[in-house]
Amino acid sequence: MSVIAIDQGTTSSRAIRFGPDLAPEATAQEEFEQYFPASGWVEHEAADLWETTRRVTAEVMDSSVRAIGITNQRETTVVWDRRTGEPIHRAIVWQDRRTADRCAALKKEGLEERATEVTGLLLDPYFSGTKLAWILDEVEGARERAEAGELLFGTVDTWLIWNLTEGRVHATDHTNACRTLLYDIRAGDWSDEMLEMLDVPRAVLPEIRDCDGDFGETTLFGDPVPIRGVAGDQQAATVGQACFEPGMLKSTYGTGCFALLNTGDAPQFSKSRLLTTVAYRLGGRTTYALEGAIFIAGAAVQWLRDGLGIVEAAHETARMAARADPKQDVLLVPAFTGLGAPHWVPEARGALFGLTRGTGRDEVAKAALESVGYQTLDLIRAMQADHGGDTGAVIRVDGGMTASDPAMQFLADITGGRVDRPTILETTALGVAWIAGHAVGLYPGAEGFAARWALDRSFEPAMDEAERAARTERWDRAVAATRGV
Ligand code: G3P
Repeated sequence: MSVIAIDQGTTSSRAIRFGPDLAPEATAQEEFEQYFPASGWVEHEAADLWETTRRVTAEVMDSSVRAIGITNQRETTVVWDRRTGEPIHRAIVWQDRRTADRCAALKKEGLEERATEVTGLLLDPYFSGTKLAWILDEVEGARERAEAGELLFGTVDTWLIWNLTEGRVHATDHTNACRTLLYDIRAGDWSDEMLEMLDVPRAVLPEIRDCDGDFGETTLFGDPVPIRGVAGDQQAATVGQACFEPGMLKSTYGTGCFALLNTGDAPQFSKSRLLTTVAYRLGGRTTYALEGAIFIAGAAVQWLRDGLGIVEAAHETARMAARADPKQDVLLVPAFTGLGAPHWVPEARGALFGLTRGTGRDEVAKAALESVGYQTLDLIRAMQADHGGDTGAVIRVDGGMTASDPAMQFLADITGGRVDRPTILETTALGVAWIAGHAVGLYPGAEGFAARWALDRSFEPAMDEAERAARTERWDRAVAATRGV
Protein backbone atom coordinates (compact mmCIF):
# COMPACT_ATOMS: atom_id res chain seq x y z
CA MET A 1 0.00 0.00 0.00
CA SER A 2 1.22 3.49 -0.78
CA VAL A 3 0.47 7.22 -0.90
CA ILE A 4 1.15 9.77 -3.64
CA ALA A 5 2.35 13.24 -2.60
CA ILE A 6 1.80 15.91 -5.25
CA ASP A 7 4.22 18.82 -4.79
CA GLN A 8 3.17 21.66 -7.07
CA GLY A 9 6.04 24.20 -6.75
CA THR A 10 7.03 27.51 -8.31
CA THR A 11 9.17 26.03 -11.07
CA SER A 12 8.00 22.42 -11.39
CA SER A 13 5.26 19.93 -10.55
CA ARG A 14 6.29 16.69 -8.90
CA ALA A 15 4.66 13.52 -7.70
CA ILE A 16 6.32 11.06 -5.33
CA ARG A 17 4.89 7.69 -4.35
CA PHE A 18 5.76 6.68 -0.79
CA GLY A 19 5.61 3.04 0.28
CA PRO A 20 4.21 1.48 3.48
CA ASP A 21 7.40 2.39 5.38
CA LEU A 22 7.29 6.00 4.07
CA ALA A 23 10.25 5.43 1.75
CA PRO A 24 10.00 7.05 -1.71
CA GLU A 25 9.27 4.42 -4.40
CA ALA A 26 8.78 6.46 -7.57
CA THR A 27 9.17 10.09 -8.61
CA ALA A 28 8.09 12.13 -11.63
CA GLN A 29 8.74 15.80 -12.31
CA GLU A 30 7.91 18.34 -15.02
CA GLU A 31 8.89 21.98 -15.34
CA PHE A 32 6.61 24.59 -16.88
CA GLU A 33 6.96 28.05 -18.32
CA GLN A 34 7.35 31.22 -16.23
CA TYR A 35 5.87 34.44 -17.62
CA PHE A 36 7.28 37.88 -16.78
CA PRO A 37 4.93 40.24 -18.64
CA ALA A 38 6.19 43.41 -16.91
CA SER A 39 8.83 44.43 -14.38
CA GLY A 40 8.07 42.72 -11.07
CA TRP A 41 5.23 40.65 -12.55
CA VAL A 42 5.33 36.82 -12.47
CA GLU A 43 2.62 34.58 -13.92
CA HIS A 44 1.91 30.90 -14.59
CA GLU A 45 -0.64 29.38 -16.95
CA ALA A 46 -3.06 27.72 -14.51
CA ALA A 47 -3.67 25.04 -17.16
CA ASP A 48 0.08 24.23 -17.10
CA LEU A 49 -0.02 23.76 -13.32
CA TRP A 50 -2.89 21.31 -13.70
CA GLU A 51 -1.68 19.48 -16.84
CA THR A 52 1.85 18.91 -15.49
CA THR A 53 0.38 17.75 -12.17
CA ARG A 54 -1.99 15.36 -13.91
CA ARG A 55 0.81 13.84 -15.98
CA VAL A 56 3.31 13.37 -13.14
CA THR A 57 0.58 11.87 -10.95
CA ALA A 58 -0.40 9.42 -13.69
CA GLU A 59 3.25 8.43 -14.04
CA VAL A 60 3.64 7.29 -10.41
CA MET A 61 0.08 5.98 -9.94
CA ASP A 62 -0.47 2.26 -9.45
CA SER A 63 -3.03 -0.02 -7.84
CA SER A 64 -1.32 0.14 -4.42
CA VAL A 65 -2.16 3.84 -3.92
CA ARG A 66 -4.58 4.42 -1.02
CA ALA A 67 -4.53 8.24 -0.76
CA ILE A 68 -3.25 11.42 -2.38
CA GLY A 69 -1.72 14.36 -0.50
CA ILE A 70 -1.26 17.81 -2.06
CA THR A 71 1.33 20.40 -1.13
CA ASN A 72 1.85 23.53 -3.14
CA GLN A 73 3.47 26.90 -3.80
CA ARG A 74 1.44 29.18 -1.56
CA GLU A 75 -0.32 32.53 -2.19
CA THR A 76 -0.35 32.07 -5.99
CA THR A 77 -3.82 33.11 -7.13
CA VAL A 78 -6.17 31.51 -9.68
CA VAL A 79 -9.68 32.65 -10.68
CA TRP A 80 -11.78 30.49 -12.97
CA ASP A 81 -15.28 30.08 -14.39
CA ARG A 82 -17.33 27.75 -12.21
CA ARG A 83 -19.19 26.30 -15.21
CA THR A 84 -16.45 25.83 -17.82
CA GLY A 85 -13.41 25.49 -15.54
CA GLU A 86 -11.57 28.07 -17.70
CA PRO A 87 -9.25 30.44 -15.79
CA ILE A 88 -10.13 34.07 -16.54
CA HIS A 89 -6.50 35.22 -16.19
CA ARG A 90 -3.09 33.63 -15.80
CA ALA A 91 -2.25 32.65 -12.20
CA ILE A 92 -0.52 35.53 -10.39
CA VAL A 93 2.50 34.06 -8.62
CA TRP A 94 3.49 34.75 -5.00
CA GLN A 95 6.62 36.61 -6.18
CA ASP A 96 4.57 39.10 -8.20
CA ARG A 97 4.77 42.72 -6.94
CA ARG A 98 2.07 44.33 -9.13
CA THR A 99 -0.13 45.22 -6.18
CA ALA A 100 2.60 47.13 -4.31
CA ASP A 101 0.79 50.46 -4.92
CA ARG A 102 -2.52 49.07 -3.69
CA CYS A 103 -0.80 47.82 -0.51
CA ALA A 104 0.92 51.18 -0.03
CA ALA A 105 -2.46 52.96 -0.39
CA LEU A 106 -4.08 50.71 2.23
CA LYS A 107 -1.14 51.33 4.57
CA LYS A 108 -1.52 55.06 4.04
CA GLU A 109 -5.11 54.76 5.16
CA GLY A 110 -3.70 53.34 8.40
CA LEU A 111 -5.10 49.84 7.88
CA GLU A 112 -1.99 47.71 8.33
CA GLU A 113 -2.22 47.36 12.08
CA ARG A 114 -5.78 46.08 11.88
CA ALA A 115 -4.92 43.74 8.97
CA THR A 116 -2.13 42.23 11.08
CA GLU A 117 -4.37 41.88 14.11
CA VAL A 118 -6.91 39.88 12.09
CA THR A 119 -4.69 37.87 9.73
CA GLY A 120 -1.23 37.74 11.34
CA LEU A 121 0.20 39.02 8.03
CA LEU A 122 1.25 42.40 6.63
CA LEU A 123 -0.12 44.50 3.79
CA ASP A 124 2.37 43.19 1.23
CA PRO A 125 1.79 42.16 -2.42
CA TYR A 126 3.17 38.69 -1.51
CA PHE A 127 -0.23 37.51 -0.24
CA SER A 128 -3.22 36.45 -2.37
CA GLY A 129 -5.86 39.02 -1.34
CA THR A 130 -4.70 41.99 -3.37
CA LYS A 131 -3.81 39.74 -6.32
CA LEU A 132 -7.38 38.39 -6.34
CA ALA A 133 -8.84 41.92 -6.15
CA TRP A 134 -6.53 42.94 -9.04
CA ILE A 135 -7.91 40.17 -11.28
CA LEU A 136 -11.50 41.11 -10.41
CA ASP A 137 -10.78 44.76 -11.20
CA GLU A 138 -8.74 44.29 -14.36
CA VAL A 139 -10.56 41.50 -16.22
CA GLU A 140 -13.61 42.92 -17.91
CA GLY A 141 -16.87 41.98 -16.22
CA ALA A 142 -15.11 39.84 -13.59
CA ARG A 143 -16.37 41.70 -10.55
CA GLU A 144 -20.03 41.40 -11.59
CA ARG A 145 -19.58 37.73 -12.48
CA ALA A 146 -17.86 37.08 -9.15
CA GLU A 147 -20.70 38.71 -7.25
CA ALA A 148 -23.19 36.61 -9.21
CA GLY A 149 -21.38 33.45 -8.06
CA GLU A 150 -20.09 32.57 -11.53
CA LEU A 151 -16.37 32.70 -10.65
CA LEU A 152 -14.26 30.72 -8.20
CA PHE A 153 -11.00 31.69 -6.50
CA GLY A 154 -8.35 29.32 -5.29
CA THR A 155 -4.74 29.04 -4.28
CA VAL A 156 -2.99 26.25 -6.18
CA ASP A 157 -4.16 23.47 -3.82
CA THR A 158 -7.79 24.47 -4.47
CA TRP A 159 -7.26 24.63 -8.23
CA LEU A 160 -5.77 21.12 -8.24
CA ILE A 161 -8.44 19.63 -5.95
CA TRP A 162 -11.16 21.13 -8.17
CA ASN A 163 -9.57 19.59 -11.26
CA LEU A 164 -8.80 16.24 -9.63
CA THR A 165 -12.42 15.95 -8.49
CA GLU A 166 -13.72 17.26 -11.85
CA GLY A 167 -15.38 20.26 -10.27
CA ARG A 168 -17.05 18.45 -7.37
CA VAL A 169 -14.94 19.96 -4.56
CA HIS A 170 -14.07 23.65 -4.10
CA ALA A 171 -12.00 23.58 -0.91
CA THR A 172 -8.72 24.64 0.64
CA ASP A 173 -7.00 23.90 3.94
CA HIS A 174 -6.14 26.23 6.84
CA THR A 175 -2.42 26.53 5.98
CA ASN A 176 -3.20 27.87 2.51
CA ALA A 177 -6.22 29.94 3.58
CA CYS A 178 -4.13 31.77 6.18
CA ARG A 179 -1.85 33.18 3.44
CA THR A 180 -4.62 35.04 1.59
CA LEU A 181 -5.00 38.12 3.86
CA LEU A 182 -8.69 37.15 3.96
CA TYR A 183 -8.51 34.68 6.88
CA ASP A 184 -9.08 35.46 10.54
CA ILE A 185 -6.20 33.63 12.21
CA ARG A 186 -7.92 33.47 15.62
CA ALA A 187 -11.35 32.40 14.35
CA GLY A 188 -9.91 29.99 11.75
CA ASP A 189 -12.38 31.24 9.13
CA TRP A 190 -12.78 33.83 6.38
CA SER A 191 -12.98 37.37 7.75
CA ASP A 192 -15.82 39.63 6.59
CA GLU A 193 -13.82 42.64 7.69
CA MET A 194 -10.84 41.70 5.48
CA LEU A 195 -13.13 40.84 2.56
CA GLU A 196 -14.51 44.34 2.81
CA MET A 197 -11.08 45.97 3.23
CA LEU A 198 -9.73 44.26 0.10
CA ASP A 199 -13.01 44.39 -1.81
CA VAL A 200 -13.43 40.67 -2.41
CA PRO A 201 -16.91 39.07 -2.67
CA ARG A 202 -17.43 36.06 -0.42
CA ALA A 203 -19.06 34.05 -3.22
CA VAL A 204 -15.66 33.25 -4.82
CA LEU A 205 -14.11 31.67 -1.73
CA PRO A 206 -13.55 27.94 -1.18
CA GLU A 207 -14.56 26.01 1.92
CA ILE A 208 -11.76 25.61 4.49
CA ARG A 209 -10.98 22.11 5.77
CA ASP A 210 -8.40 20.55 8.12
CA CYS A 211 -5.06 19.43 6.61
CA ASP A 212 -6.12 15.83 7.19
CA GLY A 213 -9.73 16.46 6.11
CA ASP A 214 -11.73 14.83 3.35
CA PHE A 215 -11.11 16.61 0.04
CA GLY A 216 -13.14 14.21 -2.11
CA GLU A 217 -11.76 11.58 -4.44
CA THR A 218 -10.36 11.43 -7.93
CA THR A 219 -11.40 8.87 -10.52
CA LEU A 220 -9.16 10.24 -13.25
CA PHE A 221 -6.55 7.51 -12.89
CA GLY A 222 -8.75 4.40 -12.58
CA ASP A 223 -10.22 3.28 -9.24
CA PRO A 224 -11.29 6.13 -6.93
CA VAL A 225 -8.46 7.51 -4.75
CA PRO A 226 -9.27 9.84 -1.82
CA ILE A 227 -7.48 13.18 -1.36
CA ARG A 228 -6.76 13.16 2.37
CA GLY A 229 -3.86 15.56 2.98
CA VAL A 230 -3.45 19.22 1.99
CA ALA A 231 -0.87 21.75 3.24
CA GLY A 232 1.09 24.69 1.83
CA ASP A 233 4.63 23.63 1.00
CA GLN A 234 6.37 25.38 3.90
CA GLN A 235 3.91 24.01 6.43
CA ALA A 236 4.22 20.52 4.89
CA ALA A 237 8.01 20.82 5.32
CA THR A 238 7.47 21.76 8.99
CA VAL A 239 5.51 18.52 9.39
CA GLY A 240 8.05 16.56 7.30
CA GLN A 241 10.80 17.83 9.61
CA ALA A 242 8.68 16.61 12.56
CA CYS A 243 8.74 20.07 14.18
CA PHE A 244 5.81 19.09 16.40
CA GLU A 245 6.99 20.73 19.64
CA PRO A 246 6.85 24.47 20.45
CA GLY A 247 10.30 26.01 19.89
CA MET A 248 11.26 23.65 17.06
CA LEU A 249 12.45 25.46 13.96
CA LYS A 250 12.91 24.45 10.33
CA SER A 251 14.35 26.42 7.45
CA THR A 252 13.81 25.40 3.83
CA TYR A 253 16.11 26.59 1.05
CA GLY A 254 14.47 26.55 -2.38
CA THR A 255 13.96 29.55 -4.66
CA GLY A 256 13.48 31.53 -1.47
CA CYS A 257 14.01 30.64 2.16
CA PHE A 258 11.18 30.07 4.61
CA ALA A 259 11.83 29.54 8.32
CA LEU A 260 8.95 28.38 10.54
CA LEU A 261 9.07 28.27 14.33
CA ASN A 262 6.42 26.12 16.04
CA THR A 263 4.73 28.32 18.66
CA GLY A 264 2.16 25.82 19.91
CA ASP A 265 -1.62 25.99 20.10
CA ALA A 266 -2.14 29.76 20.38
CA PRO A 267 -1.20 32.26 17.68
CA GLN A 268 1.74 34.44 18.69
CA PHE A 269 1.92 37.93 17.18
CA SER A 270 5.29 39.30 16.16
CA LYS A 271 6.85 42.55 17.28
CA SER A 272 9.56 42.05 14.67
CA ARG A 273 7.50 41.87 11.47
CA LEU A 274 7.44 38.10 11.21
CA LEU A 275 4.23 36.43 10.02
CA THR A 276 1.79 34.53 12.21
CA THR A 277 0.67 31.46 10.36
CA VAL A 278 -1.08 28.12 10.80
CA ALA A 279 1.63 25.43 10.95
CA TYR A 280 -0.93 22.63 10.57
CA ARG A 281 -4.40 21.65 11.67
CA LEU A 282 -4.73 17.93 12.32
CA GLY A 283 -7.56 16.07 14.00
CA GLY A 284 -9.39 19.34 14.71
CA ARG A 285 -6.43 20.96 16.56
CA THR A 286 -4.53 23.95 15.20
CA THR A 287 -0.80 24.45 15.77
CA TYR A 288 0.63 27.88 14.93
CA ALA A 289 4.00 29.15 13.77
CA LEU A 290 5.97 32.33 13.36
CA GLU A 291 7.32 32.52 9.84
CA GLY A 292 10.15 34.43 8.24
CA ALA A 293 9.98 34.55 4.44
CA ILE A 294 12.94 35.54 2.27
CA PHE A 295 12.39 35.82 -1.47
CA ILE A 296 15.91 35.05 -2.76
CA ALA A 297 17.97 32.05 -1.56
CA GLY A 298 18.63 29.42 -4.25
CA ALA A 299 17.58 32.10 -6.73
CA ALA A 300 20.88 33.90 -5.92
CA VAL A 301 22.76 30.85 -7.24
CA GLN A 302 20.44 30.74 -10.28
CA TRP A 303 21.44 34.36 -10.89
CA LEU A 304 25.15 33.37 -10.88
CA ARG A 305 24.32 30.72 -13.46
CA ASP A 306 21.67 32.34 -15.69
CA GLY A 307 22.23 36.04 -15.09
CA LEU A 308 25.99 36.43 -14.72
CA GLY A 309 26.93 33.16 -16.42
CA ILE A 310 29.84 32.59 -14.00
CA VAL A 311 28.88 29.03 -13.03
CA GLU A 312 27.56 26.23 -15.19
CA ALA A 313 25.81 24.22 -12.49
CA ALA A 314 24.65 25.24 -9.03
CA HIS A 315 26.75 22.59 -7.27
CA GLU A 316 29.99 24.23 -8.53
CA THR A 317 29.48 27.11 -6.10
CA ALA A 318 30.63 25.02 -3.12
CA ARG A 319 34.03 24.40 -4.75
CA MET A 320 34.30 28.03 -5.82
CA ALA A 321 33.51 29.25 -2.32
CA ALA A 322 36.24 26.99 -0.90
CA ARG A 323 38.72 28.46 -3.41
CA ALA A 324 37.80 32.12 -2.77
CA ASP A 325 40.43 34.47 -1.33
CA PRO A 326 39.74 34.48 2.44
CA LYS A 327 41.16 38.01 2.78
CA GLN A 328 38.45 39.46 0.57
CA ASP A 329 35.20 40.31 2.22
CA VAL A 330 32.66 40.52 -0.57
CA LEU A 331 29.07 40.86 0.60
CA LEU A 332 25.94 40.34 -1.50
CA VAL A 333 22.55 41.67 -0.43
CA PRO A 334 20.29 39.82 -2.89
CA ALA A 335 17.32 42.18 -2.63
CA PHE A 336 16.51 41.51 -6.30
CA THR A 337 12.75 41.64 -5.67
CA GLY A 338 12.86 43.84 -2.58
CA LEU A 339 13.50 42.70 0.98
CA GLY A 340 11.18 40.22 2.69
CA ALA A 341 11.07 39.45 6.42
CA PRO A 342 11.81 41.11 8.73
CA HIS A 343 12.44 44.27 6.65
CA TRP A 344 9.57 44.23 4.11
CA VAL A 345 10.87 46.86 1.71
CA PRO A 346 9.45 46.03 -1.76
CA GLU A 347 11.42 48.83 -3.44
CA ALA A 348 14.87 47.81 -2.08
CA ARG A 349 17.29 46.47 -4.71
CA GLY A 350 20.36 44.23 -4.46
CA ALA A 351 24.00 45.28 -4.09
CA LEU A 352 27.53 43.88 -3.92
CA PHE A 353 29.92 45.40 -1.38
CA GLY A 354 33.67 45.13 -0.85
CA LEU A 355 34.75 44.71 -4.50
CA THR A 356 38.45 45.09 -5.33
CA ARG A 357 40.54 44.56 -8.48
CA GLY A 358 41.21 41.07 -7.15
CA THR A 359 37.53 40.11 -6.89
CA GLY A 360 36.57 37.29 -9.21
CA ARG A 361 33.92 34.64 -9.75
CA ASP A 362 34.94 32.63 -6.68
CA GLU A 363 34.51 35.54 -4.29
CA VAL A 364 31.12 36.44 -5.80
CA ALA A 365 29.96 32.81 -5.57
CA LYS A 366 31.02 32.70 -1.91
CA ALA A 367 29.13 35.93 -1.24
CA ALA A 368 26.00 34.44 -2.82
CA LEU A 369 26.15 31.36 -0.58
CA GLU A 370 26.84 33.49 2.49
CA SER A 371 23.93 35.83 1.68
CA VAL A 372 21.61 32.95 2.50
CA GLY A 373 23.18 32.59 5.95
CA TYR A 374 23.02 36.31 6.64
CA GLN A 375 19.36 36.51 5.65
CA THR A 376 18.53 33.55 7.88
CA LEU A 377 20.38 35.34 10.68
CA ASP A 378 17.94 38.26 10.27
CA LEU A 379 15.02 35.85 10.68
CA ILE A 380 16.52 34.13 13.72
CA ARG A 381 17.25 37.43 15.44
CA ALA A 382 13.63 38.48 14.85
CA MET A 383 12.40 35.14 16.22
CA GLN A 384 14.63 35.50 19.28
CA ALA A 385 13.19 38.97 19.92
CA ASP A 386 9.65 37.57 19.71
CA HIS A 387 10.02 34.16 21.24
CA GLY A 388 13.10 34.64 23.39
CA GLY A 389 15.41 32.16 25.03
CA ASP A 390 17.36 29.73 22.96
CA THR A 391 15.32 30.09 19.76
CA GLY A 392 17.54 29.08 16.86
CA ALA A 393 19.89 26.96 19.00
CA VAL A 394 18.99 24.13 16.59
CA ILE A 395 17.87 24.70 13.00
CA ARG A 396 16.53 21.80 10.96
CA VAL A 397 17.28 22.50 7.30
CA ASP A 398 16.05 21.09 4.00
CA GLY A 399 15.78 22.00 0.31
CA GLY A 400 18.24 21.86 -2.60
CA MET A 401 20.77 24.35 -1.25
CA THR A 402 21.36 22.41 1.95
CA ALA A 403 23.47 19.94 -0.08
CA SER A 404 26.16 22.65 0.02
CA ASP A 405 28.37 21.97 3.06
CA PRO A 406 30.08 25.41 3.01
CA ALA A 407 26.69 27.17 2.91
CA MET A 408 25.47 25.11 5.90
CA GLN A 409 28.71 25.67 7.86
CA PHE A 410 28.44 29.40 7.29
CA LEU A 411 24.80 29.30 8.40
CA ALA A 412 25.88 27.68 11.69
CA ASP A 413 28.80 30.11 12.08
CA ILE A 414 26.84 33.29 11.51
CA THR A 415 23.70 32.35 13.48
CA GLY A 416 25.63 30.66 16.30
CA GLY A 417 23.11 27.78 16.15
CA ARG A 418 23.59 24.09 15.35
CA VAL A 419 22.37 23.22 11.86
CA ASP A 420 20.87 19.73 11.51
CA ARG A 421 20.50 18.26 8.03
CA PRO A 422 18.29 15.14 7.85
CA THR A 423 18.89 12.15 5.59
CA ILE A 424 15.66 12.83 3.70
CA LEU A 425 15.71 16.24 2.05
CA GLU A 426 12.27 15.71 0.42
CA THR A 427 10.61 16.88 3.60
CA THR A 428 7.82 18.81 1.87
CA ALA A 429 6.45 15.81 -0.02
CA LEU A 430 7.13 13.53 2.96
CA GLY A 431 5.12 15.81 5.27
CA VAL A 432 1.98 15.75 3.19
CA ALA A 433 2.37 12.05 2.35
CA TRP A 434 2.41 11.33 6.07
CA ILE A 435 -0.68 13.51 6.68
CA ALA A 436 -2.66 11.73 3.93
CA GLY A 437 -1.37 8.26 4.80
CA HIS A 438 -2.07 8.75 8.50
CA ALA A 439 -5.60 9.95 7.68
CA VAL A 440 -6.34 6.63 5.94
CA GLY A 441 -4.71 4.56 8.69
CA LEU A 442 -1.59 3.58 6.75
CA TYR A 443 1.06 5.47 8.72
CA PRO A 444 1.79 5.85 12.47
CA GLY A 445 0.81 8.84 14.61
CA ALA A 446 2.94 11.96 15.10
CA GLU A 447 5.19 10.33 17.69
CA GLY A 448 5.99 7.33 15.52
CA PHE A 449 6.58 9.60 12.54
CA ALA A 450 8.88 11.91 14.53
CA ALA A 451 10.93 8.91 15.67
CA ARG A 452 11.78 8.19 12.02
CA TRP A 453 13.51 11.57 11.54
CA ALA A 454 17.20 10.72 10.94
CA LEU A 455 20.24 12.98 10.99
CA ASP A 456 22.60 13.11 8.03
CA ARG A 457 25.00 15.70 9.44
CA SER A 458 25.18 18.43 12.11
CA PHE A 459 27.11 21.65 11.53
CA GLU A 460 28.37 23.22 14.77
CA PRO A 461 29.16 26.95 14.89
CA ALA A 462 32.93 27.49 14.73
CA MET A 463 33.29 31.25 14.23
CA ASP A 464 34.54 33.25 17.20
CA GLU A 465 32.21 35.77 18.83
CA ALA A 466 34.18 38.87 17.84
CA GLU A 467 34.20 37.91 14.18
CA ARG A 468 30.52 37.05 14.22
CA ALA A 469 29.71 40.41 15.79
CA ALA A 470 31.83 42.33 13.27
CA ARG A 471 30.35 40.50 10.30
CA THR A 472 26.80 40.95 11.59
CA GLU A 473 27.34 44.67 11.98
CA ARG A 474 28.70 44.96 8.46
CA TRP A 475 25.71 43.01 7.09
CA ASP A 476 23.29 45.32 8.90
CA ARG A 477 24.98 48.36 7.34
CA ALA A 478 24.85 46.75 3.89
CA VAL A 479 21.12 45.97 4.22
CA ALA A 480 20.42 49.51 5.38
CA ALA A 481 22.23 50.84 2.31
CA THR A 482 20.04 48.83 -0.12
CA ARG A 483 16.82 50.28 1.22
CA GLY A 484 16.95 53.65 -0.40
CA VAL A 485 19.36 53.47 -3.37
O1 G3P B 1 5.29 31.24 -0.12
C1 G3P B 1 5.83 30.76 -1.31
C2 G3P B 1 6.32 29.35 -1.18
O2 G3P B 1 5.29 28.52 -0.79
C3 G3P B 1 6.99 28.91 -2.49
O3 G3P B 1 7.72 27.79 -2.31
O4 G3P B 1 9.18 25.95 -2.89
O5 G3P B 1 7.54 26.74 -4.60
O6 G3P B 1 9.52 28.12 -4.04
P1 G3P B 1 8.54 27.11 -3.54
